[in-house]
Amino acid sequence: MTIKTSRMLLTGSNGQVGRELQRALTPLGNVLPLDRHQLDLANPDAIRKTIRDYQPDLIVNAAAYTAVDRAESEPELAMAVNGVAPGVLAEEARRLDAVLVHYSTDYVFDGTKHDAYTESDEPSPLNVYGRTKLAGERAIQAVGPVHYILRTSWVYAAEGANFLNTMLRLARERPELRIVDDQVGAPTWARAIAEMTAQTLAAAQSLDAGPRYGLYHLTATGAVSWFGFAQAIFAAAEQTLGIQAPRLIPITAAEYPLPAQRPANSRLDTARLTETFGIRPASWQEMLAQCLQVKQRG
Ligand SMILES: NC(=O)c1ccc[n+]([C@@H]2O[C@H](COP(=O)([O-])OP(=O)(O)OC[C@H]3O[C@@H](n4cnc5c(N)ncnc54)[C@H](OP(=O)(O)O)[C@@H]3O)[C@@H](O)[C@H]2O)c1
Repeated sequence: MTIKTSRMLLTGSNGQVGRELQRALTPLGNVLPLDRHQLDLANPDAIRKTIRDYQPDLIVNAAAYTAVDRAESEPELAMAVNGVAPGVLAEEARRLDAVLVHYSTDYVFDGTKHDAYTESDEPSPLNVYGRTKLAGERAIQAVGPVHYILRTSWVYAAEGANFLNTMLRLARERPELRIVDDQVGAPTWARAIAEMTAQTLAAAQSLDAGPRYGLYHLTATGAVSWFGFAQAIFAAAEQTLGIQAPRLIPITAAEYPLPAQRPANSRLDTARLTETFGIRPASWQEMLAQCLQVKQRG
């Protein structure tokens, strides 16, 4: 089985990772980018029709219901998009002998493990979003097309609604911010996710041992709490963006209750990605610096 990339269908093309994938995949072949209005993943018939019309040889699913707290009160919609649609994509991929690339999340784990999670650790999600994302993984595995499920974490980008931009906005509005310090993970830049996805496909094509499809953890290396991430954002943003840092106060997650419970440990071990494809993710600090440079250039 070789991986062809002459006709690629990209869902969620307006999301953080989706936008970056448009750039990163274009050198590999033709990309058909589809946003939510062009292809609604809550509509299985639309998924089937779109794929049958375009006949892609690679499907990249960057679309997801990512509103973690809202998912608690909209579990059916979250499940349709995150749990059911990936199975439909997988069925269509198998029908066409196409490859499916799909993204999943650290939130499939409950965060009680002491070390970083590997791909062999048993998931046990704490919230609706995590349960729906796990259902999506399992649906793809059950249908069994050639697939890559890439679990990532704490995604941010120069544009869009994410922790980085929320911090920079709040810094202009408030002199003091209270930030959760008892959840750790690897903040991962959307552009790095897209570039490592393209590298994975290129490496998979050239492996003597076959494309080695399956489940991979794909995040920045290292780990930090949200509080530590905020400190790093303001340390860098004071210099690159001329932003006055607010006073940061570390708090516990219990002091900042949200509808969805989050894992205390979100660290994902990326050794399988490195051992299989030779991809060495940058540290979260390097990714943050690069993203802020992009923001600075505007
Ligand atoms: N964000 C994170 O921190 C994080 C962490 C771990 C894993 N992930 C995973 O990484 C992948 C990419 O996430 P991201 O950060 O790029 O998320 P994002 O910025 O929220 O993008 C998700 C995209 O999916 C689209 N979408 C939502 N519902 C849809 C539907 N019914 N049909 C079609 N498209 C729909 C959204 O469209 P609209 O813009 O129109 O709403 C948005 O463009 C997802 O699989 C996500 O689960 C994300």
